[in-house]
Amino acid sequence: MIKVKAFAPASYSNLSVGFDILGLALRNLGDIVELEQREDSAIQIKSIFSEVDLPEEVDKNCCSIVIKKMQEACASEIGCDIIIRKGFKAGSGLGSSSASSVAAAVAYNALLGSPFVKEDLLEFALEGEFLACGARHADNVAPSLFGGLIMVRSYEPLDIISLPVPSELYAVTLFPDVEVKTSESRKLLPKQVDLSVLTKQVANMAGFISALYEEDYDRIADCLVDHVAEPGRKSLIPHFDEMKKAAMDMGALCFGISGSGPTVFSLTDNASVAEDIKGELESIFANSPIQANCFVEKLEESEGAHIIL
Ligand code: HSE
Repeated sequence: MIKVKAFAPASYSNLSVGFDILGLALRNLGDIVELEQREDSAIQIKSIFSEVDLPEEVDKNCCSIVIKKMQEACASEIGCDIIIRKGFKAGSGLGSSSASSVAAAVAYNALLGSPFVKEDLLEFALEGEFLACGARHADNVAPSLFGGLIMVRSYEPLDIISLPVPSELYAVTLFPDVEVKTSESRKLLPKQVDLSVLTKQVANMAGFISALYEEDYDRIADCLVDHVAEPGRKSLIPHFDEMKKAAMDMGALCFGISGSGPTVFSLTDNASVAEDIKGELESIFANSPIQANCFVEKLEESEGAHIIL
């Protein structure tokens, strides 16, 4: 039996300064989608390994939807059974549906003999995101597929720009075990922003991009500020202000909400500071009834989603 397996990373969307337009892929955390070729052309979910229940109906699961769209697009007769292994909890703010959709697209492309390039796969994976979220957000799908740091400059037409990831960047990710629905989290966004807020955010975005090219960590720290989403959304995240103060006091470059939450992240250019921040954040949750998982990884240019053996 022919089998293929693909990994697609989790990602932080927004990255504080780029609401709905920036996404940064992680390297180690992500989903694996395994496909077993069938003798007929059917697409079926065989098993899902996930902490939360995910739909097993072919028309409701983002992986099978992506594969069906690809199968239709190239009029293929190649069917498959799908095994989904979630590497992190759905609804965490780390682009769960995106990672699964992207892994499915990369795996099925391999099963087909790679007729599609990654740019084509982006369009298919967005179909999975649409099914899961009701919108074709690319700010998790694109970094998960291409890796690294991605800016979605435009949706119509889709224009994805890959930005450099500075060589000494460590990410601390903390996932508090509370449920935050993206739809609820979006209700906490301001309907309008003041011109003064717009000015600050645009200036910080421009400064951030220049700092990436210059590997200027001080300017990265100055620019990674969220004037738009964080003020309303932080109320959804337990101990947010305490965690932010602790991380910034330890020397973090920034501390913010990953996507629509509840995951939070902190960046630093120092490996031991990253471990110190992790220790501080964990100690905040040590006496809390809420469980939290925290991990550190070095961010480097990555290839994004890929076939694994
Ligand atoms: N950027 C979205 C939000 C989440 O913050 O609501 C992922 O698309």
